[in-house]
Amino acid sequence: MSETVLLVGGGGREHAIARAIADAGAELYACAGNRNPGIARLAADFESLDTTNPQAAVSYAESVDATLAVIGPEAPLAAGVADALDDAGVYAFGPHENEARIETDKAFQRRFMRRHDIPGCPDFETFEDVEAACAFIDDYDGDLAVKPVGLTGGKGVRVIGDQVTREEAKAYLRESDYDRVVLEERLVGEEFTVQALVANGRLRVTPAVQDHKRAYEGDEGPNTGGMGSYSDAGLALPFMSEADYREAVDVLKATVDALDGYKGVLYGQFMLTADGVKVVEFNARFGDPEAMNTLPVMNTDFVEILAAARDGDALPRLSFRPEATVCKYAVPEGYPTDPEAGAPVAIDEESAGDALLFYASVDERADGIYTTTSRAFAVVGVADTIAEAESIAEQALAVAGEDGLRVRHDIGKADIVQRRIDHVNELRGG
Ligand code: AMP
Ligand code: GLY
Repeated sequence: MSETVLLVGGGGREHAIARAIADAGAELYACAGNRNPGIARLAADFESLDTTNPQAAVSYAESVDATLAVIGPEAPLAAGVADALDDAGVYAFGPHENEARIETDKAFQRRFMRRHDIPGCPDFETFEDVEAACAFIDDYDGDLAVKPVGLTGGKGVRVIGDQVTREEAKAYLRESDYDRVVLEERLVGEEFTVQALVANGRLRVTPAVQDHKRAYEGDEGPNTGGMGSYSDAGLALPFMSEADYREAVDVLKATVDALDGYKGVLYGQFMLTADGVKVVEFNARFGDPEAMNTLPVMNTDFVEILAAARDGDALPRLSFRPEATVCKYAVPEGYPTDPEAGAPVAIDEESAGDALLFYASVDERADGIYTTTSRAFAVVGVADTIAEAESIAEQALAVAGEDGLRVRHDIGKADIVQRRIDHVNELRGG
């Protein structure tokens, strides 16, 4: 049967999902708050709507006779869009509001790990009172990560000893209006992501990816939604072993076993530390940018996976091309603190050459495409090695030019990859 798939969300991640759906030959319909020109070109129709309004998503799904839905971002999951689509008889690949708490409520996430004895949980405490949290910061022997309980777009965490001092962390808590926070042991090591596709009690895992959250080259500056990411030709990354990768997969397996009825993507953010693999967080969706590393090298038909999930079948085994990927986001000048919108985007899917181009937050006007105040577009190189993939991504960025844009050119370059390897060797006492 030919499927009609509704995609919810309009960022770079969703452009990658849209391409996977279109490549599988399904009919694609898309809805998002912003009009993503790349998704719009692939879709039979693109509807602008508030994706946190479950009824709006259901009405659109029904109007296009969708047989499946994929939800890209976390906000619609938190708003119960998957619940509403399922209730309306449109199977949504994405967890219900209650299961999405693994991402949307960091206190729930940590307590869940403790209750089910999921390996890799850092030492933590949860607080509903700012002064009690500040007292804990004063008394704790060691550095802490300060994490607001709710969604903050990856920008709410402050790490003592890395980004802030103890005093600054307390001032941050007192100035903010967060009513619930988690304080947890600071994890030191190298971060990596492993995403699993989950349905019917089983999971299928994808290759590890490393995101770069800091805004500036050399991992300086404020945290962002992610400036770019890379993956290697195998399942692991150059700074980790296959055994480290399997340790992360075991954490995801234990989590899926403990979660009742979870479906969609389970995203594990891990820290490879001197004491092994620890969990930084879980997300209830593909990563952005990580989806742009993963989906372009996946051979398995994405829509077959969705249909198997819906039909209660075992998910097909995933197969990946043995190729490395490097993804670099172009963001507006001043992002993330004082972004300046309105720069023309001088690249499109054709002029990107050998690289893949994924649009994110852009504004399509009669005379062209312009940046907004969020990440604008990403280029992805795919090749046998990280170095070749990096150079393909850079060739595309040269076409795009630099006017009004900023890029972390260091992502995927040999010296930063080597620094990661050295860091882990140092932690392991090598
Ligand atoms: P999150 O919003 O949970 O993704 O956190 C954003 C970033 O904060 C992570 O990618 C890490 O770089 C950092 N972070 C979060 N928790 C910890 C922790 N326990 N130790 C060190 N860094 C952390
Ligand atoms: N790349 C981080 C995230 O998607 O949350």
